[in-house]
Amino acid sequence: MKRLYIATLGCQMNEYDSLKMAQVLSQDYVVTDTPEDADLILLNTCSIREKAENKVYSLAGRFRLLKEKRPKLLVGVCGCVAQQEGARLLRRLPFLDLVFGPQGIYRLPEMLDAVRRGEGPCCDTRLMKDFVIPCLDPPVLVGGSVKASVTIMQGCDNFCTYCVVPYVRGRETSRPPEDIIREVKGLVEAGVKDITLLGQNVNSYGKKGAGFPDFPELLKRVAAIPGLFRLRFTTSHPRDISDALIRSFAEIPNLCEHLHLPVQSGSDRILSRMNRHYTREQYLEVIRRLRLACPSITFTTDVIVGFPGETDEDFEQTLSLLSQVEYDDIFAFKYSKRPFTRAADLDGQVQEEVKQERLEILLAHQRGIGLRRHERFVGQEVEVLVEGRSKADPNEFAGRTRGNHVVNFPSPTDCVGQCVTVPIIQASYHSLKGKEPVRSPRS
Ligand code: 5AD
Ligand code: SF4
Repeated sequence: MKRLYIATLGCQMNEYDSLKMAQVLSQDYVVTDTPEDADLILLNTCSIREKAENKVYSLAGRFRLLKEKRPKLLVGVCGCVAQQEGARLLRRLPFLDLVFGPQGIYRLPEMLDAVRRGEGPCCDTRLMKDFVIPCLDPPVLVGGSVKASVTIMQGCDNFCTYCVVPYVRGRETSRPPEDIIREVKGLVEAGVKDITLLGQNVNSYGKKGAGFPDFPELLKRVAAIPGLFRLRFTTSHPRDISDALIRSFAEIPNLCEHLHLPVQSGSDRILSRMNRHYTREQYLEVIRRLRLACPSITFTTDVIVGFPGETDEDFEQTLSLLSQVEYDDIFAFKYSKRPFTRAADLDGQVQEEVKQERLEILLAHQRGIGLRRHERFVGQEVEVLVEGRSKADPNEFAGRTRGNHVVNFPSPTDCVGQCVTVPIIQASYHSLKGKEPVRSPRS
């Protein structure tokens, strides 16, 4: 068997795609975690912000040095930067053997054969409208694999003015429901307990597939798979949160009480320039209705600071929205100009120092909110699905609550993969600290 090293940048969709690459090549390759002894290196890239894109070139430089030492080593770049740059990437990084987009994954064996036959570097960044992600059995799992993700749709039709995704992942296409069910069943049978359904905009699942269920109906069908302990999904567009989806949080017992609902900005003026199709008030109304249906639900969000035209007043509106919603956690980004996007040409581009200052203010503001939100658990017992050893302290274990809070705690026995009840003794703005579990674990 040959050895395959995969470097994955970017989001959960890319993590999923990397597992698929390992699966597609599993007849000939075993995965290694050291690029130095690999026969094939694949760099799965992200282009959501300039910083992510730059990482591609620095990592690729490292792999070029390995290839100089071992000319037989094959190196490929895939994912969103590959899709965005196509053959240009081969000109910029001439040592590459392969460049392919997210749909090219399933043609990898043929591409590798062509390269080995000496047909030169291979570039395949076609984006087919009717592309369907193939079903591959059995699933490939990483580590202990308590958690896994399943892509349910690809691409995006929203065209937020800052976002490169529609250009690199193409138009929205949903996977057939039976393929999704089959994949989730396979994972649950392999021992996975916590499944996240993935898509750029999962709420519009099924809109284009003839006879496909809508997203709330798909959730119901997936949740009913025997043995599935926890179900989650990401990402949602606030405009597409339907009444039926809100009811799902009250009605589906294994659907976890957590929603990642990117708001991007608290200012109506900026939301309109971003082409988000909702106002601050409409967003807050969705949050109110979700809390009414499911009082224990927790929210996380994405925020962009320094979008073109953002004034101090607009930024203040974002700060006040964070206080109003009280998110348990946020992901905050400085606006970054992206190719093809409309915002790149908008007037009022914000200076880097102003973006940096706003980012720091925003994060400090959220730290206070996050800490208060987490402190509500101190003195309480929470249900934790244990994912592995704690990163900070290998003597401790780490897992998540249904609300997606990270909990670190000591345990006299190895409880990875089990669901335990942990008394919380301390809170920080990102995580919770617990004592030894109090009741015998359920697996
Ligand atoms: N600049 C900064 N942040 C961006 N995001 C998407 N595009 C950009 C950009 N051009 C952020 C959004 C999105 C998250 C995945 O990345 O907040 O929700
Ligand atoms: Fe990055 Fe978006 Fe591509 Fe994910 S889909 S890898 S976030 S550009």
